[in-house]
Amino acid sequence: MALLVFDSGIGGLGVVRQLRRLAPARELIYLADNGFFPYGEKPDEALLAHIVALIGQAIAALSPQAVVVACNTASTIALPALRATYHLPIIGCVPPVKPAAAASASKVIGVLATAATVRRPYLNGLIEAFAPGCEVLSLGTPALAELAERKFRGETVQVEDAVAPLFRQENGGRIDAIALGCTHYTFLQEEFSALRPDISWFDPALPVARRSLAVTQHLPATHHPQAGTAFFTGEALAPALLAPFGLTRAETCRW
Ligand code: DGL
Repeated sequence: MALLVFDSGIGGLGVVRQLRRLAPARELIYLADNGFFPYGEKPDEALLAHIVALIGQAIAALSPQAVVVACNTASTIALPALRATYHLPIIGCVPPVKPAAAASASKVIGVLATAATVRRPYLNGLIEAFAPGCEVLSLGTPALAELAERKFRGETVQVEDAVAPLFRQENGGRIDAIALGCTHYTFLQEEFSALRPDISWFDPALPVARRSLAVTQHLPATHHPQAGTAFFTGEALAPALLAPFGLTRAETCRW
């Protein structure tokens, strides 16, 4: 029995890393829908139908114990439909607005995410619930997820141009905490901190990993034959890039 961790690309590997650290014995299967990347630029209806169908195929092929939607863009649109359609635990991602708001002294915080996540009502709900009294400036951009994919494959990248419009907004100069609302951004943490070491940058991976383990702790731990496999809907990543995440096989989906 294994948890299926799912994202549009490499972003969910940050969640896999945290799951490995917190629960080394928990079996994991990874699914990267890189054939449909980037999610943040797809029309809502097409993306929703695509995700519900893909997760259905993955559940039928792999029988996971639970699905971890390690993607904010997918979570903000598909969680209710996934939970209504499939009867197993489905854990989603939430942009870390709450810890960013709590850490902010200036009470001006930033949210960086894909354009889709920023425009959906889900984010407004989070801000109302968890950042009362804060001014929240957000920036949706396709550039950062793409940069994360390139860095993961070994390129040197700079984030300054992509992030600059956030600080140019009115009161942008007062931002002292930023919620990273896209799992891909885990892999750009060094660049963000180097750019603005004075700002606290909040990563989404750890809270999702913790929540996934809390929800699934009562489930039995029996061996799954596909544990440690990373499935790709597009071209598979080189095994050497996956090995640090305890993923020992890379396959293109045949389902
Ligand atoms: N990793 C995804 C997220 O957390 C998004 C990347 C994409 O646009 O596909 O939002």
